[in-house]
Amino acid sequence: MAIVELKNVAKQYGSSNSNAVDNFNLTTRDGEFVVLVGPSGCGKSTTMRMIAGLERNTGGEILIGGEDVSQVPPKERDIAMVFQSYALYPHMTVAENMAFSLKLKKRPAEEIKAKVDEAAKTLGIEPLLARKPRELSGGQRQRVALGRAIVRSPQVFLMDEPLSNLDAKLRVDMRAEIVKLHKRLKVTTFYVTHDQVEAMTMGERIVVMKDGEIQQIDTPINLYEHPANRFVAGFIGNPSMNFLRATHSDGAVSGEGFRLTLDAGLREASESHGGDIWVGVRPEHLSVAQGEAENRIDGRVEVVETLGAVTVVQVNVGDATLTAQLSGHRQIEIGEPLSLTCESDKLHLFDVETDQVIARRAAGEAAALADSHA
Ligand SMILES: Nc1ncnc2c1ncn2[C@@H]1O[C@H](COP(=O)(O)OP(=O)(O)OP(=O)(O)O)[C@@H](O)[C@H]1O
Ligand SMILES: [Mg+2]
Repeated sequence: MAIVELKNVAKQYGSSNSNAVDNFNLTTRDGEFVVLVGPSGCGKSTTMRMIAGLERNTGGEILIGGEDVSQVPPKERDIAMVFQSYALYPHMTVAENMAFSLKLKKRPAEEIKAKVDEAAKTLGIEPLLARKPRELSGGQRQRVALGRAIVRSPQVFLMDEPLSNLDAKLRVDMRAEIVKLHKRLKVTTFYVTHDQVEAMTMGERIVVMKDGEIQQIDTPINLYEHPANRFVAGFIGNPSMNFLRATHSDGAVSGEGFRLTLDAGLREASESHGGDIWVGVRPEHLSVAQGEAENRIDGRVEVVETLGAVTVVQVNVGDATLTAQLSGHRQIEIGEPLSLTCESDKLHLFDVETDQVIARRAAGEAAALADSHA
């Protein structure tokens, strides 16, 4: 186990004029599970490869267990990696594959056997130890690749989309296995995915990246409840958050077909953002308006998706299309008018120039501010 520190880490490939990773700052806790998430090409693998020592960082420094590792070759970093294209040795059995790195280190045979047996037990692959990789399913091979990493008892695990070859059901099972494994072994882990559900369910903290830069580092629930900007707000959550362009005045935000009142915290915080503003509202926070609701969004139904537990509707509101996730099965017809509503404390506001959130002030803080203005 070890604390991993990345300080202003940057990577410039060749003569490229933009950095693949820029200004990356993160200090893990000992034994923390950190997830890196973001769209394709945002720099997740590059960051992992720099921690592993497979790429040189062109800026900043990386410390593992307090030691600057810039001069430490990959083999000596005491890191085990599981990457998307995990290659098992085809001519070796599962047991031999798992034992390989310990054999290279010339560990005693009894120790190797004990470690392989223990890892196999943890992963439920004991009956497979004598098989060759070609005799395994994709999910079983995946487990062997994990087993091979576990037997090394490394200081740090790096997992770069290790589940992307699996079908949806197996993926969910393996995701749970990895979380359990981490709870038991408590090895500091970096886990890359571009699946935000995987990120939310696995990460103790999540690093959201875009274009090589960190957008926000936070716990899953904080990312969901307090996204720092419009990118994070739209990236975390499924279906994605809706954004409405609105005019902000008199403690409300409004536009064609809607008017939403702000709660005290948002009203205070957004005072200096008169005029244009982005309003964010999550599909699951919209419901069908009953009677003369105070917060109203009037639109016309464009698409209805019946999923059983929920009904997802797309509604045209002015120039915008809003997605609403309504509980249960609803009888809603395409083309019919539909009025939606949302609690004021579920609204998010973003600056139109910077896309940064206009954060709601806590009630106490707002009251104190009101006092100081009095
Ligand atoms: N060896 C390389 N030489 C030059 N540019 C590279 C190299 N490897 C990656 N890049 C570039 O660096 C950027 C980040 O790539 P990286 O592989 O880290 O993205 P990623 O977040 O892992 O994406 P994905 O989700 O598709 O795996 C991309 O623009 C990519 O084209
Ligand atoms: Mg990658």
